[in-house]
Amino acid sequence: MGVSKKIAVLAGDGIGPEVMAQGIKALKAIEDKYGHNFQLTEAIIGGCAIDKTGNPLPQETLEVALDADAVLLGAIGTPKYADPTMKVRPEQGLLGLRKALGLYANIRPVKAYDKLVGLSPIKNERIQGADFVIFRELTGGIYFGENGRNDENTMAYDTMTYHDYEIERIAHAAFKVAMTRRKELCLIDKANVLESSRFWRETVDKVAKEYPEVELTYLYVDNAAMQLILNPKRFDVMVTANLFGDIISDEASVIGGSLGLLPSASIGDSRCLFEPVHGSYPEGAGKDIANPTAMILSVAMMFDHLELHQEARDIYDAIGTCMEKSIMTPDLNPEVSYSCSQFGDIVESIISGDEINIKSVQEGSHSII
Ligand code: NAD
Ligand code: IPM
Ligand code: MN
Repeated sequence: MGVSKKIAVLAGDGIGPEVMAQGIKALKAIEDKYGHNFQLTEAIIGGCAIDKTGNPLPQETLEVALDADAVLLGAIGTPKYADPTMKVRPEQGLLGLRKALGLYANIRPVKAYDKLVGLSPIKNERIQGADFVIFRELTGGIYFGENGRNDENTMAYDTMTYHDYEIERIAHAAFKVAMTRRKELCLIDKANVLESSRFWRETVDKVAKEYPEVELTYLYVDNAAMQLILNPKRFDVMVTANLFGDIISDEASVIGGSLGLLPSASIGDSRCLFEPVHGSYPEGAGKDIANPTAMILSVAMMFDHLELHQEARDIYDAIGTCMEKSIMTPDLNPEVSYSCSQFGDIVESIISGDEINIKSVQEGSHSII
């Protein structure tokens, strides 16, 4: 029997609406196939919300998100509001939403897909088989610490603050997932310099006692940045602070071959949001060239979180089929490429089991779309 879920759809700026449209195609194909009822409510966030209301996170949007079983987010950010001297910026909308929903664990899986290893600038043998998950703390640290400037405007500061409970809850989340994988957890920090990092080690060590089967290791973030490229296979689960996680996850996207491949789940005690790791890619906006895979896989992560595992599997399989058949957007294959919307149509057809479309794709024909 089908389930009913309320889903908030926050497409955002730039390529956000373009990739979201493809995610929604996949979602609707699943809805039809399994007889579910997904009640979608769209709301504005980021630059488009500033344009309309002066606020990057309007109250109405927050209410839609709070009322939903899950939130899907495209991306935020526009060049119009990129000037760092501006007081109101799109990014505040996203940060405010993460904080308001209590989404402290941002889960970013990274994989070297066999079919794509040749497309990464990193040597095949280094990345083949790489498969790890980054747990990025999302509602604390330097992103949310005290900041400001002096009266003379000759000094500015941001502070990295962490409470024990903030570290404990993400550590638990990471250990639990490590238990389902290779049972290896690596804490990425800068404990040779930062007091907050030393506190992370102390706190994670205590949590580790509850997971004796998991091997806990530590790596300084500068070294981790190098190891990610030299030997990404060594990683299973990584856990790290907000800023470090932001940086290493974009770096990790090089393993897959494109930032357009990386999905994420942001989880709190009672709420959840799913969004690509990438941003609004303003240079690509309006051209139908963005890779919607990250968004579509974010929908799959949502289904897994909602315990709709077969539905999630269908999406993973459909993306796998696209890779097998070299159905790719220009970021991965500039020679023979499919547009963002064509890619979404194909994923939709594969999920729906539309024989004719799949066959045509196999024959390399673009005419069906
Ligand atoms: P970006 O992630 O938007 O783009 C960086 C580069 O990655 C692009 O030039 C492009 O080459 C590639 N890329 C990203 N997404 C892609 C996709 N789906 N398909 C193909 N290629 C893709 O980062 P940026 O240019 O530094 O930031 C642009 C704006 O996005 C800024 O306003 C920034 O604050 C915002 N941003 C938002 C989010 C979010 O909404 N979660 C995340 C990161 C950046
Ligand atoms: C991300 C983005 C955001 C972050 C920005 C847009 C606020 O880079 O989701 O990775 O830094 O968290
Ligand atoms: Mn980022």
